[in-house]
Amino acid sequence: MTLPTVVLVQILLPILLLLSAIRGADAGGIGVNYGTRGTTLPPPADVARFLARDTLVDRVRLFDADPAVLQAFAGTGLAVDVTVPNGVVPRLVSLAFARRWVGENVAPYARATNISRLLVGNEVTTEANRTLLLALVPAMQNLHTALVAVSLHGRIKVSTTHSLGVLTTTEQPSAGRFRDGYDAAIVKPLLRFLRATGAPFMVNAYPFYGLTNDTLDFALFRVNAGVMDEGSGLVYSNMLDAQLDAVHSAIRRLGFGDVDIAVSETGWPSAGEDWEVGVGAELARDYNKKAIRHLGSGVGTPLMPNRTFEVSIFSLFDENLKPGPVSERNFGLFRGDMTPVYDAGIFTDPETVVPVSTKLTPAAGQGAAAAAGRRQWCVPKPAADEMMLQENIDFACGQEGVDCAAIRPGGVCYEPDTLQGHAAYAMNLYFQSNGQHAFDCDFGQTGVLTTADPSFGGCKFM
Ligand SMILES: *[C@@H]1O[C@H](CO)[C@@H](O)[C@H](O)[C@H]1NC(C)=O
Ligand SMILES: *[C@@H]1O[C@H](CO)[C@@H](O)[C@H](O)[C@H]1NC(C)=O
Ligand SMILES: *[C@@H]1O[C@H](CO)[C@@H](O)[C@H](O)[C@H]1NC(C)=O
Ligand SMILES: *[C@@H]1O[C@H](CO)[C@@H](O)[C@H](O)[C@H]1NC(C)=O
Repeated sequence: MTLPTVVLVQILLPILLLLSAIRGADAGGIGVNYGTRGTTLPPPADVARFLARDTLVDRVRLFDADPAVLQAFAGTGLAVDVTVPNGVVPRLVSLAFARRWVGENVAPYARATNISRLLVGNEVTTEANRTLLLALVPAMQNLHTALVAVSLHGRIKVSTTHSLGVLTTTEQPSAGRFRDGYDAAIVKPLLRFLRATGAPFMVNAYPFYGLTNDTLDFALFRVNAGVMDEGSGLVYSNMLDAQLDAVHSAIRRLGFGDVDIAVSETGWPSAGEDWEVGVGAELARDYNKKAIRHLGSGVGTPLMPNRTFEVSIFSLFDENLKPGPVSERNFGLFRGDMTPVYDAGIFTDPETVVPVSTKLTPAAGQGAAAAAGRRQWCVPKPAADEMMLQENIDFACGQEGVDCAAIRPGGVCYEPDTLQGHAAYAMNLYFQSNGQHAFDCDFGQTGVLTTADPSFGGCKFM
């Protein structure tokens, strides 16, 4: 390490840390779906501790209201979304039952566990079960009323998750609309409820399903020719944007364009049957990583520009008890023993990603991955503040020996033109040019080291 760098770091770090303290914590974050249909999964307390301490995950969605799991997340601060199982939904048309359900399953845990939502059923709108469907909105209303009674409605919102099957077509994003018969009868009252209570419309969006060899690049956020929506004239560079805009179009069509959209599930399997297109750990890693980065970047989608989206990855664990093709059991970021299937950029574990903010001294600065001889790159944290990212670019590119031509218009790394992408390039260049110390990737706690090469297409990261 050269002397000027030491001086620079000593002057700069306190300033950057101060700035980040003033601006507060990162917005958004990463969610995970914590399914438990596996035989060898770790105890919930271990899972909660691990997520809170060793990952950037700040939201967890449960598929039921298991008291042991709710208790395990006590004191972690992680936002917990609790799914009300489909089987319970019809009974919630009774307000007395809703009150009892909240009294038994929510209220006792809400003080210590940051319960943030009740998700009423999963994909009820595509279950083709009339009893369930007709019970949905009344159940949501009753749960909300029950939360009001115990003064938890300010903190705990009520929503439900939908598959894309709730739409008639997702071919042209601008033509998206809800299934006939569902739009006025079910979805409209649902949207009215979400608007009135400030809860988001939650969608499970999987570019993986319906994939062909021809759409693989489009689904994986790789460089591709793009797809033109003939209705709007807008060009789509990835499938997830197209899916979210189809949902947005459908919601707008009913007059509820102001209701927020959140991605309750998205993901990609790391293994599958021979006949399944695009399965594999590297593809799963790339998809999840890029989906998190894209939705947190603030770029938005063609129809919803300049905004971030909350996103939860499906799933936390591989679940060997799930039925269906091999892929169904292999959506996990982790195996049953908590070892990562791949690095989706969610770790603060020094073996995979170095938590740079805790490694400010030169002695510790190299990080375990570097010590182990593995290459590392510096990238922004998925939910890093946009203003900070711009400052990081300006700062890094202003340093002697850091040439940012590649991210200027016409440069090989200019497209896709996103702040996250440009900041990743600039921050990494600064990190690599300065001796690759972990603290050269701190950037006011907006940077993080990864062992996954962020290079894509013709854009090579040093
Ligand atoms: C609880 O979760 C919400 C997100 O729903 C978050 O904004 C808040 O900071 C969390 N609370 C604590 C105490 O961590
Ligand atoms: C509809 O869903 C309810 C609740 O899950 C269930 O009890 C019932 O058996 C289902 N009906 C049909 C026809 O599948
Ligand atoms: C898709 O591509 C893979 C790898 O190139 C190939 O093995 C497979 O046969 C292709 N599938 C179809 C349906 O074209
Ligand atoms: C999105 O942000 C860019 C850059 O700040 C701005 O030029 C553009 O007008 C914004 N678009 C919308 C629709 O707000």
